[in-house]
Amino acid sequence: MPSVQLQNVGRRFGGVNAVGDVTAVVPNGAFVTLLGPSGCGKTTTLRMIAGLESNTSGVISIGDRIVSDPSRSLFLPPEKRNAGMVFQSYAIWPHMTVFDNVAYPLRLRRLTREDVRAKVMRALDLVQMTAYAERPAPLLSGGQQQRVAIARAVAFEPSVLLLDEPLSNLDAKLRDEMRIELRALQQRLAITTIFVTHDQEEAMALSDRIIVMRSGSILQDDTPEGIYFRPSTLKVAEFCTTSTIIPATVVASRPGTRSRVLEVRGDDWSGMVQSATDVVEGAGVSVIVRAESIRADADPASVSGDQDIRWRGRVEKNVFRGFRRTLVVRVGEIAFTVDAAPENDIRVDQEVTLSVSLKDTWSIPAAAAAASATETPL
Ligand SMILES: Nc1ncnc2c1ncn2[C@@H]1O[C@H](COP(=O)(O)OP(=O)(O)OP(=O)(O)O)[C@@H](O)[C@H]1O
Ligand SMILES: [Mg+2]
Repeated sequence: MPSVQLQNVGRRFGGVNAVGDVTAVVPNGAFVTLLGPSGCGKTTTLRMIAGLESNTSGVISIGDRIVSDPSRSLFLPPEKRNAGMVFQSYAIWPHMTVFDNVAYPLRLRRLTREDVRAKVMRALDLVQMTAYAERPAPLLSGGQQQRVAIARAVAFEPSVLLLDEPLSNLDAKLRDEMRIELRALQQRLAITTIFVTHDQEEAMALSDRIIVMRSGSILQDDTPEGIYFRPSTLKVAEFCTTSTIIPATVVASRPGTRSRVLEVRGDDWSGMVQSATDVVEGAGVSVIVRAESIRADADPASVSGDQDIRWRGRVEKNVFRGFRRTLVVRVGEIAFTVDAAPENDIRVDQEVTLSVSLKDTWSIPAAAAAASATETPL
C-alpha cells in the first residue's frame, strides 16, 4: 500500500485560501487523521488527494506517482488514483439495493459479472453485511448504511482509503462500536487511510498519527500522545484537551528526563513545569494543565507530597457527568476546569486546594502563544 505525500499543497477559491501550505506524509499502511474545527480545510485536503478538487499549488503524490502538480499542468483524474472514499454529507445511494451500491464502483471499472459479485460479497463480508445484500438501502439503520458506505469504498481494493467524518451521523454508542470495527478493518487490509474528524477523542482512538489543522494550515503533526501531552501551540492544547491555561514567568530552566523543566512563578504560586524548549529567565510562559490531571482536595493536609504545584480556590460549579464530575474552581483571575471522580462530594462555594504534579504539566513560551493568537482567521 503506498504512502501519500503532500508538498506545499494549497487550494484557493477566488480570494479565499481554503488550504494554505500543507506539507505532510501519510506513511504506508498508516491510519492518519486530519483533525480540526469546522472550515479549517479538512474536506478540501481530502478531496484534493482523491482528485475531486484540484490543488492550486504544491505537489500531491500517491506512492511513487505524482498525481497532481499544477506547476506542470499535471492532474490525474480520480479514477486513475485508486482511492476509495466515504463522503461527509451522505453515505449511500437510496434508490439502490445494498448490493448495487457496493457494485457501483466495480461496474464503473467494467469488471465481469462474476468478478463484481465476488468482490461485492467479499466487501460486504468485511463489514458483516452479506445478509443485507438485496435490501433497499433506505431500509437500513444509520450504522448499517455507514458499513455499506465503507464496503463500497473498499470493494475495488483501493490503495488508499479516504474517510470524511464517516461516523458523525451515528449515535454515541454506535459510533464507539464502529470506531473499533473501522480500525480493525483498516489493520486487516493494511490500507493507507486518511480520516477526517473534528472530534479529538475519535482522532485519538483511531490514529497512528494526527494532523491538527486550523485555518488551512497544519498546527501539529504528531502521535496521539504527542498531541495530547505535548501540544506545540495553545490552539492545539485548547482544541485537543480540556485544559486550564495559566500565565507565569520563568525563574530558571534546567534539563529534565523527557523535556526541559522550568521553574516558574505566577500570581501567588510557584512551581516546576515541563517545556519542549529552553526559555530564558524572565520570559513569560503559558502553563497548561489538563482537567483530569488536577486534584481537588477540601483539606489541604490530604494533598500528597508528589503534587508539585498548588493553588487555593473556591468552587463555582459542580456538574455531574456520570463517569466524572467537572468542577470549575476560581483562583483569582483564572477559572480552573477540574475533572474529579464522580463520587466526589465537594460543594459549590467550598474552598479547595488544587494540585498537579510536574509530569502532568506542559508549557508554551508566551511569544509563541501570542504569535498563534494573532494568526488571522479565514
Ligand atoms: N467550492 C468552494 N468555494 C469556495 N469556498 C470553499 C469551497 N469549498 C470550501 N470552501 C471554503 O474553504 C474552507 C475549508 O472548507 P472545508 O470544507 O475544507 O472545511 P472542513 O474542515 O471540512 O469543515 P467541516 O468540519 O465543516 O466539514 C471553508 O472556509 C469553506 O467555506
Ligand atoms: Mg468537511
